[in-house]
Amino acid sequence: MDHSNYVIDEMISAKSIAARVESLAREISEYFADTDKLIVIGLLRGSFVFIADLARELDLPCEIDFLETSSYGNSTESSREVRILKDIRGEIEGRDVLVVEDIVDTGHTLKQVTEMLLTRKPKRLKICALLDKPSRREVDIRADWTGFEIPDKFVVGYGIDYAQRNRNLDHIGAVRFIEE
Ligand code: IMP
Ligand code: MG
Repeated sequence: MDHSNYVIDEMISAKSIAARVESLAREISEYFADTDKLIVIGLLRGSFVFIADLARELDLPCEIDFLETSSYGNSTESSREVRILKDIRGEIEGRDVLVVEDIVDTGHTLKQVTEMLLTRKPKRLKICALLDKPSRREVDIRADWTGFEIPDKFVVGYGIDYAQRNRNLDHIGAVRFIEE
């Protein structure tokens, strides 16, 4: 089937996202209030908009780093094996770390990434995900902070893509394919 024809139905407005990001940042700032520095690690590329907004709301000394894992490519199917394509630049041993992810879907990405980061012995490692699709979970992993729980729909916008498109949408929308 040709998936080039689709429309995007708004699921979460830009305004709702902004309000939620503000409250997440408040909770995270309270939790890490005593930190000397928080290392905020964004998972590329989907979290780039979220991390930019979240980091600016954090009332903490921060360092921003990025990690890139292999993705779904141009398909909506999940690959179970997660490879590190780009590692973080900094050291995290003995440091406070916040991993920022766009969506927790099957959970394989976050599980494998956090297990790998934990081998480097951070002081505290917490996870903040903008979206969670709990019905899709295949492995036991939960974000410590979640923006929104959503149903099993393929979404785009606010950094999240479908075949590299629609990342620049200011809201989250569900992809609906149109049959020819
Ligand atoms: P997981 O390993 O199955 O949890 O997959 C997580 C990754 O899959 C996310 O970081 C996204 O990059 C991608 N992903 C999962 N669901 C969606 C979606 O609805 N739209 C776009 N990307 C998605
Ligand atoms: Mg991702």
